[in-house]
Amino acid sequence: MQDLHEAFGGKKIVLGVTGGIAAYKVVQVARDMAQLGADVRVVMTRSAERFVGQQTFAALSGHPVLTSLFSSGADVPHVELARGADLAILAPATANSIAKVVAGMADDSLSATFLTVTCPVLIAPAMHTEMWQNPATEHNMAVLAGRGYYIVGPTSGALSSGDEGMGRMVEPAEIVSEAAEILARTSSLTGKRFLITAGGTREAIDPVRYIGNHSSGRMGYVLAEEAARRGAKVILVSGSTHLIPPVGVEVVKASSAQEMHDAVLAHASDADVIVKAAAVADFRPEIAADSKLKKDAGPPEVRLVPTVDILKELGHSSGLRKPGGILVGFAAETVRDEEQLVELARHKLEIKGADMVVANQVGVPDSGFEVPTNRAVIVTRTDVDRLGLVTKLGLAKRLLDDIAGLL
Ligand code: CTP
Repeated sequence: MQDLHEAFGGKKIVLGVTGGIAAYKVVQVARDMAQLGADVRVVMTRSAERFVGQQTFAALSGHPVLTSLFSSGADVPHVELARGADLAILAPATANSIAKVVAGMADDSLSATFLTVTCPVLIAPAMHTEMWQNPATEHNMAVLAGRGYYIVGPTSGALSSGDEGMGRMVEPAEIVSEAAEILARTSSLTGKRFLITAGGTREAIDPVRYIGNHSSGRMGYVLAEEAARRGAKVILVSGSTHLIPPVGVEVVKASSAQEMHDAVLAHASDADVIVKAAAVADFRPEIAADSKLKKDAGPPEVRLVPTVDILKELGHSSGLRKPGGILVGFAAETVRDEEQLVELARHKLEIKGADMVVANQVGVPDSGFEVPTNRAVIVTRTDVDRLGLVTKLGLAKRLLDDIAGLL
């Protein structure tokens, strides 16, 4: 109970109630969270009001319930509601409301609120078995999981139609305890110092040309943004990318492997967590010509020499890092098989001296460079977290959850 008070105390929770019979049970969820010290703000659909009156939620939460996209004043109610929320819960989540979240629709106050929130979202589905098992719903749930949404239930039991089967919303206590766990996890980065690298490096051949790679920087940027959102102080050492720096993150530019090395080492000793998401060149031209190499001089001989392995250096020289800090490496691998991916990640964990390695597949259509998704596994000395196909944001969330667990 003490833990629950700690998890909910002072937290702003958006509770979205949609039109399912289980709406009456969500009254208990609102009541429990309010009693545990949360600032509960309820938004309901018109159909939800057929099951529970808005007065009930207003009385329990101590705030008016949002039911319309429009207000008489100048404020935008769903934006007011969403802003600053620590957690949003959709319960009961009907098949229709889930589909709307997936599609990014905003045609009522509830869907607009869920499109606006930037905090973690917990979904508690409730529907008839056939709807739950429909490929459309299965697809939608997979999309939400891939985007890093948290999902609790459904479970099997009596349904409103009088049948028995899968699709019943989990009990209120389970929603409350799941919410507490998410809140505890997501606020666990408050005040922690993160050093994250992102993007590809460029190794000069001459003032015009370089050796580079396909890294877009997206993974590291999403990680930096999400860590900052969870309260961490983030320094992002960025190689080449076209991305806009995330709000609230300090960006240090680094072009070559050597510049990235110097920038990382300048900040490593303060960092509680170092995440090396950058694609660093393993080799560079031994000599970068001072002036442009001319075509008429014929094909140049470019001799390559190794760059410094930043991750390995950090992993094997404890003096460079904060004692007790966590070192996370990435491994971009072209293997197709997940078991091989795990093996390669374990190998990199060993040789680099890292605490965690995220291995993702590259060279396949839906994973790796320049695409929004990854097929990934997260390996530590004791565990393997198999993520399957996830968006880069979904991967960032899972990785930060795992890091929070280690911290
Ligand atoms: N890395 C680094 N410095 C380098 C090369 C890589 O810090 N000079 C880091 C990357 O940021 C990443 C990890 O090492 O976190 C693994 O990078 P990857 O390119 O997958 O592996 P390599 O060590 O380069 O090995 P290989 O290319 O043989 O797979």
